[in-house]
Amino acid sequence: MGKENQTSISEFLLLGFSAWPEQQALLFALFLCLYVAGLFGNLFILLAIGSDHHLHIPMYFFLANLSLVDICLPSATVPKMLCNIQTQTWSISYSGCLVQVYFCVMFANMDNFLLTVMAYDRYVAICHPLHYSTIMTPRRCASLVAVPWVTAILNPLLHTLLMARLHFCSDNVIHHFFCDINSLLPLSCSDTSLNQLMVLVVVGLIFVVPSGCILASYSLIISAVMKIPSNQGKLKAFSTCGSHLALVILFYGAIIGIYMSPTSNHSTDKDMAASVIFMIVAPALNPFIYSLRNNELKGALKKVLCQSKILSQ
Ligand SMILES: *[C@@H]1O[C@H](CO)[C@@H](O)[C@H](O)[C@H]1NC(C)=O
Repeated sequence: MGKENQTSISEFLLLGFSAWPEQQALLFALFLCLYVAGLFGNLFILLAIGSDHHLHIPMYFFLANLSLVDICLPSATVPKMLCNIQTQTWSISYSGCLVQVYFCVMFANMDNFLLTVMAYDRYVAICHPLHYSTIMTPRRCASLVAVPWVTAILNPLLHTLLMARLHFCSDNVIHHFFCDINSLLPLSCSDTSLNQLMVLVVVGLIFVVPSGCILASYSLIISAVMKIPSNQGKLKAFSTCGSHLALVILFYGAIIGIYMSPTSNHSTDKDMAASVIFMIVAPALNPFIYSLRNNELKGALKKVLCQSKILSQ
């Protein structure tokens, strides 16, 4: 087939935010603040959990893993985006784009899996409190984290390899702020049906199965809490999972916004808003949602801050 007209392009243009020329400074400041706040917030959570032995329990191990992912997920897109806004050049190299596809899918998957594991952890803690330590053994916790990591590393490899065999010949304009698979596939001049099928299958598996598990966990939690006779007991049980529930609602609200929106040209703004929420805003808010509501974590954070003050004097 006509190989001569398959002159491959060497770069893509990420025109997502160039549509608002007047707001460039505002966008830059906003994303820089969110990124830096998220970076420091998550770093403090990692330090607090790492340095305090009282926090070496499954719930905080999962939270530490989530903080790590929440540092990496925005780092896959935001620095490049800030750089592009600052220099007003919107290009990203072909290989840079594939790298972005890989890491975005990887950390987004991992975020998803960890929220599921944390829902399961809360379910065991609230519905089977007496068996908690026999169910959540260190070994089981390690595999509850390791299996998602392996899946999250292999799944994007599939998509990136499938993407690498596509030809991109003339159209290189991406109406998004990062190399999102769904924005890249329509630009290719090769047959993308296999890619689309795999995206559908894998997104189905990686999104539907975890959200089903989260929904099931929370239905069981809610029905167990409803059976507690005193209002005080109900509140206490809910308070241990309130911050996780808030995160889940934020995260899934954004993803449902992305995938339920019909993919017409006008939906690109909607897609971008949803991506900003779950790739930039949610990772930045996560540490605050957790530490504001959690006295153990607040205590550990205070200790870390005091120690750093003493060390710097
Ligand atoms: C992630 O979870 C595992 C298993 O619970 C734990 O051993 C590990 O320390 C956690 N990772 C981080 C960065 O806290």
